[in-house]
Amino acid sequence: MCTSVKPALEMSLKLLALDYVNLYLMHWPMAYEQKLLEFCEKKGIVLTAYSPLGSPDRPWAKPDDPSLFEDPKIQAIAKKYGKSKAQILLCFQVQRMVAVIPKSITKSCIEENFRIFDFELDPVDMKELESFNLEARGRLCHQQWDKSHKYYPFNIEF
Ligand SMILES: NC(=O)c1ccc[n+]([C@@H]2O[C@H](COP(=O)([O-])OP(=O)(O)OC[C@H]3O[C@@H](n4cnc5c(N)ncnc54)[C@H](OP(=O)(O)O)[C@@H]3O)[C@@H](O)[C@H]2O)c1
Repeated sequence: MCTSVKPALEMSLKLLALDYVNLYLMHWPMAYEQKLLEFCEKKGIVLTAYSPLGSPDRPWAKPDDPSLFEDPKIQAIAKKYGKSKAQILLCFQVQRMVAVIPKSITKSCIEENFRIFDFELDPVDMKELESFNLEARGRLCHQQWDKSHKYYPFNIEF
């Protein structure tokens, strides 16, 4: 029985008799998942960050949930580069080789979210942004409804 992502992926590959999959869905954003990223890199898997902006409009947000958009440190980095907070958050992920799928219904935001390839965050700011990693507390989609499932993946480090 699988209780984690890594063995779950390995088991899926074995059962499917495949060396790799094109898309493997996992349900936790906002935690930076460095170990998982390193594992995926070794396997040639591109990790995708959904809710890369912290999903501020999610209906189940609680008042004490962390908010990336409201953090003054993000604001300061954005000011330094003359970019928006969203662009900084997206650039951060892309620079660490994580694909991003931000969602917006606003034309100007959609356009803004594409303009992240004309600048680079320096190592100091990358480190600063890494320090936002909240591990499990940063997971905004907990999938409580399938907690009792035998493959529920949130019980181990990755
Ligand atoms: N497979 C899964 O289990 C799963 C789970 C979660 C999310 N997802 C997918 O991942 C995608 C993104 O997730 P998400 O919508 O939860 O979170 P998100 O992309 O982190 O945040 C979306 C929010 O950010 C706002 N926004 C977008 N660009 C902005 C910008 N440049 N400046 C200011 N605000 C901006 C949007 O506003 P407006 O829309 O009002 O413009 C919206 O309120 C969605 O397509 C979602 O379906 C998949």
